Amino acid sequence: MNRIFSGMQPTRQLHLGNYLGALRNWVRLQHDYEAIFCVVDMHAITIDHDPEVLRSNIREVAAAYIAAGIDPEKNILFNQSAVAGHAELNWILACHTPLGWLNRMTQFKEKAGKQKDNAVLGLYAYPVLMAADILLYKATHVPVGEDQKQHLELARDIAGAFNRYYKREDYFPLPEPQILGEATRVMSLRDGTKKMSKSDESEYSRINLTDDADTIALKIRKAKTDPEPLPSVVEGLEGRAEAANLVTIYGALSDQTKAQVLADYGGQQFSAFKGALADLAVAKLSPIAGEMNRLLGDRAELDRILQKGAERAGAIAEKTVNEVKDIVGLVRF
Ligand code: AMP
Ligand code: TRP
Repeated sequence: MNRIFSGMQPTRQLHLGNYLGALRNWVRLQHDYEAIFCVVDMHAITIDHDPEVLRSNIREVAAAYIAAGIDPEKNILFNQSAVAGHAELNWILACHTPLGWLNRMTQFKEKAGKQKDNAVLGLYAYPVLMAADILLYKATHVPVGEDQKQHLELARDIAGAFNRYYKREDYFPLPEPQILGEATRVMSLRDGTKKMSKSDESEYSRINLTDDADTIALKIRKAKTDPEPLPSVVEGLEGRAEAANLVTIYGALSDQTKAQVLADYGGQQFSAFKGALADLAVAKLSPIAGEMNRLLGDRAELDRILQKGAERAGAIAEKTVNEVKDIVGLVRF
């Protein structure tokens, strides 16, 4: 049986990178798999946060999933902290994860910065909790953006280590990453060598899913480019990171390859292309923002969906935790 698990952190607002690299793929995959989509709120407290803001972000991310087209009846949609099994399996897997594996994680190095000794244990252990998220449901496929590739390799290694240690070769399936589409790594609008990220201090670096039409158009107009017109073939984008990023975004939003986009816009100036890109982005994102607002206006309904999701996820999780406790040698009653 194939089962998808994926999640996003409720830190700040979701942006175009989250949408094109992950969320949109989930919407497409939900018809072919049994799927579990999680708001990973326990991951969100590995960095500085404000409790009130976190609470509202959790509901906002849940609303974004639904607004983008995730069906909460067909799929399971819930927030991580509502299912205790994530924390339980996290501990057990932590006891099977060599420190050397965690020392290789590039995201920790980036997020911890220079003051490593002040970084918290949770940030360091972040990828173990992510492995627990996936393995708790014995998920076989994990649709994510490219930046999560290393974490997923670690999840596979941890699953393999557990299976081997207890001589249960196929207990945990080794989860496959699904890094899909044209825009697996959307870059900052201000710097084509940095990924678009929630934590970038410049608001102009990213397009948020909730930005209004004027804001989207303004951010695209201000996006960094170079003085040359657009090339007519993909090879012409080499060494032009900002141009490549805008063409990639246009292609992803219009379901075209970069070559098709350049066939239409090659030779044109950025001013014309940016206008077309802004119109396209507004057409694709505005309905999502509108639906998010509607959903956030009925908090009781949103909470009902999350609670029901947590019950369904909890039933699967409980079974795995019990099996794992038996395998490990813990006594339960
Ligand atoms: P996060 O915001 O870190 O919780 O990421 C949620 C999902 O969005 C993950 O699958 C990421 O890989 C994906 N993602 C985040 N930023 C980008 C980006 N700039 N381009 C493509 N995918 C991204
Ligand atoms: N680490 C992921 C990110 O930042 C979020 C995440 C947590 C996740 N647990 C997961 C993604 C399990 C996929 C599966 O994007």
